[in-house]
Amino acid sequence: MTAHLQQRGDVAVLVPAAGAGVRLGPGAPKALRLLGGIPLLVHAVRRLAGAPSVAVIVVAAPPDDVDAVRDLLAPAVAGLLLIVVPGGGDRQASVAAALAAVPAGPQIVLVHDAARALTPADLVESVAAAVRAGAEAVIPVLPVVDTIKTVDADETVLATVDRSTLRAVQTPQGFRRDVLAAAHVAAADPHTDDAGLVEKLGVPVVCVPGSERALKITRPFDLVIAEHLLGTEPSPRTLLP
Ligand code: C5P
Repeated sequence: MTAHLQQRGDVAVLVPAAGAGVRLGPGAPKALRLLGGIPLLVHAVRRLAGAPSVAVIVVAAPPDDVDAVRDLLAPAVAGLLLIVVPGGGDRQASVAAALAAVPAGPQIVLVHDAARALTPADLVESVAAAVRAGAEAVIPVLPVVDTIKTVDADETVLATVDRSTLRAVQTPQGFRRDVLAAAHVAAADPHTDDAGLVEKLGVPVVCVPGSERALKITRPFDLVIAEHLLGTEPSPRTLLP
């Protein structure tokens, strides 16, 4: 019982959600686009809140929408601490802003894109568990199914990459808090994920199995897939705020 309680509530999750989402076409900021009538960000945060390890959620919102996002998310995070900060000019800046707002306490920090709105709570738990078990940095990955080729500026093939050595990387990515903080302090150039920053420190990054349901909703077709997935979720009642 004691051991079980000690494993709960030791995780803060940072949610960069300040992107415009131009690849989805014109409209609201991506995190506020609707999926099944509910904003992507609400879907994402409900699922994070459904993971027993999560105690704190820090959202980096579009700067003009901070108050609206706080109001929107409040019903989805009962029992958790919700902090909403203005996002930055790129994803990395938004993560840095959210990290700076994490209160004292949690020593495990996850970073999760709002665009991965249907990520199951199980995946959140498995990433957190791997950090708790001693990994400094953890990423969920899937095998790459397509053949991948490198090309030159004229779209002429240069080489075929051995796909058995490739992994498609998802979020949430999990870190020991001090490691993530050091990586952001040392960051010299923009990276598309936080593990990339940590790799620059020479810290080993451990892979755990990802989930097809954690797809990143980026283009209009992704919304079609996500609508379908939403209709096939196993127990929607557990997702209600
Ligand atoms: O489109 P992109 O891959 O950069 O988006 C990844 C995540 O980073 C999204 O959840 C998006 O909302 C977020 N982001 C952000 N601040 C930005 C740009 C993107 O929080 N300035």
